[in-house]
Amino acid sequence: MIEPIKEASFVISSPEYTKCPKPDRAEYAFIGRSNVGKSSLINMLTGVKGLAKTSAMPGKTQLINHFLINNSWFLVDLPGYGFARISKAQREVFESMIKNYLLKRNNLINTFILIDSRHAPQAIDLAFIEWMGTVSLPFSIVFTKSDKLGKTKLQEHTTAYKNQLLETWEELPPIFITSSEKKLGRDEILKYIGTLHPLFTADR
Ligand code: GTP
Ligand code: MG
Repeated sequence: MIEPIKEASFVISSPEYTKCPKPDRAEYAFIGRSNVGKSSLINMLTGVKGLAKTSAMPGKTQLINHFLINNSWFLVDLPGYGFARISKAQREVFESMIKNYLLKRNNLINTFILIDSRHAPQAIDLAFIEWMGTVSLPFSIVFTKSDKLGKTKLQEHTTAYKNQLLETWEELPPIFITSSEKKLGRDEILKYIGTLHPLFTADR
């Protein structure tokens, strides 16, 4: 179990995992396509508007951003993948920054992969999920912006995703449906983090 979030503060933005804060606390990261709603979700979960910088323009978050919760654990806002308006070389730098962070950050307990609930399964998201599988990193799936579509479409898209995942996975990861706008899915995600929290030991 974890305490409800009483305090959330920005710690540091890092250009690579070696520059991140000392890995001595449990950490949970948020990843997904550019503009999917990662920063908004962090603000919604912590209840602090403007804590993580958001923007209608994709590519807002360009560094690894650490937020300290209750002076005890970290939430991490990562840059989005698949941002079209950058050079191939720049994209490769971003990609290796994210992948190195995910592979080497010893205190990372779980990564939440955000998927825009408005779309049918997208190749780039499926490829990222596949990569997480091949390197055996634990993850959950968070559908975002559920306020932007009707119940039927939402159901249709999430079911299509689940079916797609079941083609390569024996079982589904934890799946959350959220809206940062309507504050949906907050309790479920925080409760889940609470169940994972004891997994952290300083000597991992
Ligand atoms: P990058 O940092 O650029 O990778 O984007 P991000 O994934 O952090 O997305 P961000 O939180 O900045 O949100 C992108 C846009 O989507 C903003 O205009 C948000 O207001 C909007 N948005 C995010 N979540 C929701 C949601 O749940 N509902 C609605 N309607 N809009 C949302
Ligand atoms: Mg962002």
